Amino acid sequence: MSTEVKKSGRLIKAPENFLSKEDAKSPALMRRKFLAASVSSAAASMAAMGLASSARAASPVSGAGDPNILNLPTHTTGLGQPVAANPYGMPSQYEKGLQRRESPGLTRVSAASVAFTPLQGTFGIITPSGLHFERHHQGWWDIDPSKHRLMVMGLVKNPKVYTMDDIMRLPSVSRIHFIECGANTAMEWGNVAVPTVQYSHGMVSCSEFTGVPLSVLLEDCGIDMKKAKYVLGEGADGSSMTRTIPLDRALDDVLVAYGMNGEMLRPENGYPLRLVVPGIQGVSWVKWLRRIEVGDQKWATKDEAVHYIDLMPDGLHRQYTGIQEAKSVITTPSGGQTLLDKGFYNISGLAWSGRGKIKRVDVSVDGGRNWRTARLETPVLSKAFTRFNIDWVWNGGPAILQSRAQDDTGYVQPKINQLREVRGTRSIYHQNAIQSWKVAENGEVSNVQVY
Ligand code: MTE
Repeated sequence: MSTEVKKSGRLIKAPENFLSKEDAKSPALMRRKFLAASVSSAAASMAAMGLASSARAASPVSGAGDPNILNLPTHTTGLGQPVAANPYGMPSQYEKGLQRRESPGLTRVSAASVAFTPLQGTFGIITPSGLHFERHHQGWWDIDPSKHRLMVMGLVKNPKVYTMDDIMRLPSVSRIHFIECGANTAMEWGNVAVPTVQYSHGMVSCSEFTGVPLSVLLEDCGIDMKKAKYVLGEGADGSSMTRTIPLDRALDDVLVAYGMNGEMLRPENGYPLRLVVPGIQGVSWVKWLRRIEVGDQKWATKDEAVHYIDLMPDGLHRQYTGIQEAKSVITTPSGGQTLLDKGFYNISGLAWSGRGKIKRVDVSVDGGRNWRTARLETPVLSKAFTRFNIDWVWNGGPAILQSRAQDDTGYVQPKINQLREVRGTRSIYHQNAIQSWKVAENGEVSNVQVY
């Protein structure tokens, strides 16, 4: 094993980090501090287990003398806080930097805006509920569930109005799915626009949703299967969000959900009721759901006839494009981070497809010349995030990191120029191109486009 492989590289995270602001400003200083201390994590844990002296005897460059080990902290000698000091648990005070953030200047009013998920700082495939991205057209509300109603009407024998109690007494299922706004990565159609993965890809999250299959409600109301072709979902907020869903999809895996990650939906994400439309762009996941109408033709509402359409190179608009095609992104190392040392890094990222499961993710560290297949971590679920990891030893030279996802239909995530050939550059939605992160010799990672 070369010395570079043995030494785990460290990086300055972005935009949050565990290092002081001064340290973060000066990677060179950090590198010197790191080399001087020569603290290997193995030595540190041996010391913690009381093996410090033997470790010292075996290797003079261990963590010996580290005040963090030698001086007993108050948390070892004092009494900790009582149970239920925080009746609803919160993250550590040291994790405050990890937040959803609104991109400055993105919209004129924050009530019609987006707060992006910090993908660079989450692990595994579940997005913590407090970090789930938010996209509202007319602000969010915390609606009283005792007053909330869902009406199912149109081409059904028995139109009904359900209370939340009615819905929560019906047979329920729980499923893990990603939700991605059709506008995710929209700013990158023309050229590089934003510095970090939070802003380039953070309009996607993945949660476990609990609710009633829409098919159960439609059957309960006696859907007219001879005439019915489409279903409309309508939200209770001021944006009058309405979206048409084809009947075969509505009867397949769509949920009327009240649960998210083991508890009720958060208000920002549609409490107390929302549509979950797996694999389909976020706008169809109507929040604060108050009405389902069954019909025999598309409604052509404002959110599907004028908004959420794709301007094609021939000048025509493509409507009703809902499926989020296979996409992936390396979340670390990623834009805004700084690699402090040569050596080992775990390249980690997320892949997802609106058509099914992720079959394979390949990773390149030289801008797409050579590819290696990454490890897919289990579970690998349909229409859900899949976490991938791959080992990399950074030799200190320039590198371009890319990931390329393939789903179980055989579809392969395209390069940005392949996507532009078909879609042009004037689109807003459905940008699923391969993302490139450039690692400079000084360790700084930045967003670039490779054609
Ligand atoms: N539903 C209603 N009623 N109002 C809205 O503004 N925004 C839509 C969709 N459902 C919206 C809505 C859009 S554009 C997206 S991307 C998703 O909700 C975002 O869901 P989230 O805020 O839970 O991430």
